[in-house]
Order: sequence, then C-alpha cells, then structure tokens
Amino acid sequence: MTTQTLSATPELPLDMIVFGGAGDLAARKLLPALYMAHLHGNLPAQTRIVAVGRADWSREQYLSFVEENARPFVDSKALDAPGWDKFLALFDYVRVEIGSPADYAGLAEKTRNDALRVFYLATSPELFTAICDNLAACHLVDGQSRVVLEKPLGHDLASAQAINASVGRHFAEAQIYRIDHYLGKETVQNLMVLRFGNAIFGPLWQAPYIKSVQITVAETVGVGNRAGFYDKTGAMRDMVQNHLLQLLCIVAMEPPVSLDPDAVRDEKLKVMRSLRPMTMADIARDTVRGQYMAGAVGGESVKGYLEEDNVPADSSAETFVALRVRINNWRWANVPFFLRTGKRLRQKQSEIVIEFADLPFSIIPNGTRKYGNRLVIQLQPEESIQLQMLAKEPGSGLQVLPVNLNLDLQQALAGRRAEAYERLLIDVIRGRPTHFMRRDELEAAWAWVEPILAGWRALGDRPRAYIAGTYGPAGSSALMARENMAWPEEG
Ligand code: BG6
Repeated sequence: MTTQTLSATPELPLDMIVFGGAGDLAARKLLPALYMAHLHGNLPAQTRIVAVGRADWSREQYLSFVEENARPFVDSKALDAPGWDKFLALFDYVRVEIGSPADYAGLAEKTRNDALRVFYLATSPELFTAICDNLAACHLVDGQSRVVLEKPLGHDLASAQAINASVGRHFAEAQIYRIDHYLGKETVQNLMVLRFGNAIFGPLWQAPYIKSVQITVAETVGVGNRAGFYDKTGAMRDMVQNHLLQLLCIVAMEPPVSLDPDAVRDEKLKVMRSLRPMTMADIARDTVRGQYMAGAVGGESVKGYLEEDNVPADSSAETFVALRVRINNWRWANVPFFLRTGKRLRQKQSEIVIEFADLPFSIIPNGTRKYGNRLVIQLQPEESIQLQMLAKEPGSGLQVLPVNLNLDLQQALAGRRAEAYERLLIDVIRGRPTHFMRRDELEAAWAWVEPILAGWRALGDRPRAYIAGTYGPAGSSALMARENMAWPEEG
C-alpha cells in the first residue's frame, strides 16, 4: 500500500471541524493543543475551528464550555488574556445529530469552499461511517480534505476493516490520518534518530547482542469517568493494540530507506506481520490480565475497578496486561519482547528498556554478570535516555558499580517541547502522515491482537486482581522470572 504525500498547505485558509467538540478528549487535549499551535503561529492565518456537538448550544454557550473545560488544561505559563481571546475568536459551533443528513447542511454553511477542511473525528468509532457518508453527501469532502480518526479504531479486525472501507469510500488513504498520540511524543520520535542517526547502535541492535526488550506504560490514574467506554474496551484494545505495538515497531523495525512516510510505515508493517501469532498454549503461558482492587496510589486511598462508577459488578475488563511477545525474523529470533501496561499502578512511568546480552565471561570478581548493560529510554514522566554501564569504583581495590551515561533531554536540548497532540495536529495541517497509522499497519495490529482476545474468552480467563499502587499482578513478574529476567524495578 502506498500513500502519496500531499503537499504542505499551511498558507491555505483552514477549517478545522471537530466532531465531539464538547467531549472529554476535545477539552483535555485537542483544544489546548490547538491553542498552543495558534499561539506559536503554527495555524494558517485564516483559521476557523468549527466545533460539532449534539447539544443545542449557541456559539456563546460553547465558548463558556471551552472556558470552563479546556482552559484549565492549557499550560498556565502559556495563557495570556489577549492570546486566549484571539483564539476564542476562531471558534464557531454547530449542532449536528450524527445520523441526520439535514443537520450537515448547517455545518456546510459554516465552512468555506476555498479552505482546507480537516475533519477531526473525536467520537466513538461506531459513528465514523455515518459521519463520513453524510459529509460526502453534503459535498463537504474534496480532494484536499483530510480526516483524522481517533483510536481505538474499531473493536476487532472486522469492525476496523469495515470502518476503513467506509471512510475509504470518501477519502483517499493520503487524506486519512489515524492518530496514535504516542507517535507524537518527542522521545518516541527521538528514538528513530537515536537508532538511525548514530552508527554505534546499528551493529548491536539485534540478536544475540540484545537479550530482551521491555516496554512499560504504567499509569497511576484509574478509569475515571470513562467506564462506559473502558469497560467494553479494556487495556488490550485501549493501549496494547495501538500505543505499545507502535513502540515495539519503532524499536524493532529495519532501517527505512528514507524518512518518507511510506518508507517508514512499510518497515513498521513488516514488524507487525512478523509478530508470532499466539497459540492457546502461548496465551495461557505468555499473557497476564489484571484488574485493580482498592489500594493506595501516591499516598491516597483509591477504589477498586469494580467499585468505580458505571462499572458492572461482575466486569471482567482488564485494566492491566503483560505479554511476552516473539518476533519471527532474523534480527529478533529468540529475543523476547515484554510488554506491560496498566492503570492504578505505583507510578506513572513509560519506558523502553533495551537489555543487552550478558558478558560472555567475566574476569572481574564480585558477580558483575548481574549488571547487564541497559539502554533505558524514558518517555514519561520525564524524557531521558540512559545507558547503564559498569565502572570501577575509585579506590585501591577492584570494586565495580553501575553508572549511567545520562542524556537528559530536557537539559541538553533547550526549547519548548510541544505536546504530542499539538505536534500531530500540525502534521495533519501540513500534510505529513509519517507519524500516523496506515490502514494495513492498523489492520495487521488487530490481526495479531484479536486471537489473544478470543483466546481469553475461550479460556474463560478472568483478570487477576492486583492492589492499586503496586506494579500489577504477581503473574507479571513470574512471566519474566521464568526466563531469569526481571522488570526494571525488580532487577
Ligand atoms: C489513551 C488511553 O489513548 O492514552 C487512555 O485511551 C490512557 O486510557 C492514555 O490514559 C495515556 O496517555 P498518556 O499520554 O497520558 O500516557
């Protein structure tokens, strides 16, 4: 599959049409990101933001919503009254019942024919087909329009394919931006530069020099007010199918021939297709599902998942997943990739740990083999890259100790760091799809994940309980211990 890149068009007037404009995502992420883009001159001069919602609101009522719900999520250092007022001046609001074609005429009146129209669908994916059909029926889609699709795209492979097919009836692949905000994170983009801009890692970035790769995305938050969505979704669909597999692809991909969007995505697709499908035996042995119980996070007592608002008392949605993944290709043969993610864990921490092979033989006394070299790429809460090595402790004896070669990205690289959503929105406006998921890539991810979801159902697998504020169920440590390995906090 190829995607012809559209030319950069920031000088065109822009109509940014946000479906789900009064939703949680718009308030917490999109509108603050658009504000920052506006503040830093990254939106075209003639920009209009048309928020689409179901409430029968006037423009003023919508602006009050933005004031109350989005403004608190803007970095206070970046908020100044004149800038904010200029931003609010860009807005319009229109009420649209998604399934009602007549309402789209009202939307059409708010957009300009000579503008680049970007439709941001921050709604449930079940609505994507109806929205695109109605937009097209109202002649709102032309050859330069773009559509941004929020994740998770679909519930399984068949629903993802159906959505892709129906959106694809009206938008060419080059016009479709499937967003995964992890691809907009600075450190994730930096990982490509680290791998492909530094010769030293090339020869080592493979079996047998790498012993394992561990990817953790740990959150302290619980399900919050999203139970309606989350309970049907679970951590596998919410986090693994997209964010964690995307991180895995960037670690595991071959060097692309260039940074052209398709060159990069072709390589990620090859990784997705190399993931070894899990058999029932693999699922029973190499996967762990968990669900948090009451506990304490950061010193505060928190409820268990089953006690959260709108969660069914017998819910078996997983809030934690750990997996041992194998990649069937030459580079990664026999190198296990361990993935884990969960809510209500001990600390917010997203990191990728590349664990290099043990010393083949040690001439240094004192059990140095246990200090393997590790490259630790931390995405959150701070961005940093560390290479853990062994050094001699000053003194007369030969005492050794582990030390870090530390690249503190905040300190080393001054300058403002845009949030992931801001960076990705600018990419959409400029027509740069590299950091978005192509259709085949996304479907390959579903094709790998789906049998695991089916396997859990067939095994009648219930998530194992873990206490909020820990690192997840004991099975997660056991997954590693079986191979004489340990998660970073245990090692
Ligand atoms: C979203 C998930 O995609 O990512 C949320 O739907 C999760 O459940 C969030 O909390 C985590 O993003 P970040 O950037 O805070 O790590």
